[in-house]
Amino acid sequence: MKSKYFVTTPIYYVNDTPHIGHACTTVAADVLARSARLLGKEVLFLTGTDEHGQKIAQEAASRGLKPKEFCDQIAPQFEENWKKLNISYDYFIRTTDPNHEKVVQDLILKIRDNGYIYEDTYKGWYCVGCEAFKTQDELVDGKCPEHQNKTLEWYEEKNYFLALRKIISENQEFFDKLSFSLPDTKRREMLGKIRGLESDVSISRSKVDWGIPIPWDSSQTIYVWFDALINYYSATRIKESWADFWPADMHLVGKGINWFHSVIWPAMLLAAKLPTPEAVFAHSHYNTNGQKMSKSLGNVIAPFEIVDKYGVDAARFLIAKTFPENDDSDITKERLSEIYNSDLANNLGNLVARLTKLAEGLEIDLSSFQKFDSEVQGLIFKLSLPQAIWKIYETKINPLNVFLNDQKPWTLDPADPKRHKILRHALGELFSACWQLQPFMPSIYQEIYARLATGRVIFVATPLFPRIND
Ligand code: MSP
Repeated sequence: MKSKYFVTTPIYYVNDTPHIGHACTTVAADVLARSARLLGKEVLFLTGTDEHGQKIAQEAASRGLKPKEFCDQIAPQFEENWKKLNISYDYFIRTTDPNHEKVVQDLILKIRDNGYIYEDTYKGWYCVGCEAFKTQDELVDGKCPEHQNKTLEWYEEKNYFLALRKIISENQEFFDKLSFSLPDTKRREMLGKIRGLESDVSISRSKVDWGIPIPWDSSQTIYVWFDALINYYSATRIKESWADFWPADMHLVGKGINWFHSVIWPAMLLAAKLPTPEAVFAHSHYNTNGQKMSKSLGNVIAPFEIVDKYGVDAARFLIAKTFPENDDSDITKERLSEIYNSDLANNLGNLVARLTKLAEGLEIDLSSFQKFDSEVQGLIFKLSLPQAIWKIYETKINPLNVFLNDQKPWTLDPADPKRHKILRHALGELFSACWQLQPFMPSIYQEIYARLATGRVIFVATPLFPRIND
């Protein structure tokens, strides 16, 4: 791995307030950023908000606000939620930042000068919910499958187009392999879509005022996705010292926007003669009782609700434990409480309490346990977050419970060296497990550190994870 690590989340639309679906991508990116920092890397972790386009303009108008006023109200809510979840982002980008707007205009000019933009008429259906054109075979009962409650709009207008098919044919090997696009199942979907590609992409709008103007034609604004994708690159132009972070190491996205990240974005970069990202990882979705979680369906869980209920670190743990790496993950409040009680309250929390009570005052040096287990590390960097947690429990925490129950140190005299030996071994294993868990639960790690690793074991009566009775 390189010494620099640049990880991004999608920039979220401000028409929606943050929900646990957004939080799952953001927490996963935070786990990567914190793990990379633990490995001594210089990290740039980027998140932000996507603020242009028809959807935002409509939402602002429905509240009687100017689009920018509306964005200024919602963008801070994302920042507040991320702070509440202890997300360690380095920069929060907004597509209405003048710096970003300038980079977008420069890049579109470069792509045009390189011969990959042409003018034509667009005719087709547009889903404002997705801010994307839809082909006939993408529709279900004449509607967008992601936005069943919205009617599609028919568009017929002069637009500028990105010569996607030409870019693909000039970079055939790249698009035949798509090796940066993960995981395999989702890459194969993208390869299938590339093979079936029949048209280029419109990258401007004549009837949408809320956007960045096309530099050579002020009657058109830049298509919101073209503008938004560039945030990843424009952020690296903000500080001189960030320039070397490009190309990004990891764009973490949900499967619904994989096409934009695995195909359109690299095509834009190739057309601009810029390096393409090292990896895009498209995870699946959170569902509630089988339905995608979304504001329009009214079934969302807000991140602050779970933080208030379980505490920040437990909320992060629950999100990572249910992270929809490959398949959609059904989450309900009941399931979250079940995991919380079994993994945290009854298991880890109880173990810390039992062991610190037994070993209170014992002198111990745990510095040799501050090491990242290579298997756990490998699982984290391939976004197998539930498995990474499982591994820590299977190899450390659960065997430790068995070990204590077998050895029964509480039956031995407090002065017995055998008791000290058992406790020292147990404390080492526990501390090592907590060290591995720190990208998931950074504050709990600090608390456990204070109880175990400052020289003498300290017992604190307040439980780390009080049991929840719903
Ligand atoms: N603004 C675009 C992204 C532009 S990136 C250059 C967008 N925004 S969004 O607000 O709709 O957020 C989409 C992202 O939120 C998904 O890619 C995913 O990361 C996350 N999720 C939204 N709903 C989700 C679920 N129900 N489950 C899991 N993640 C989901 O698209």
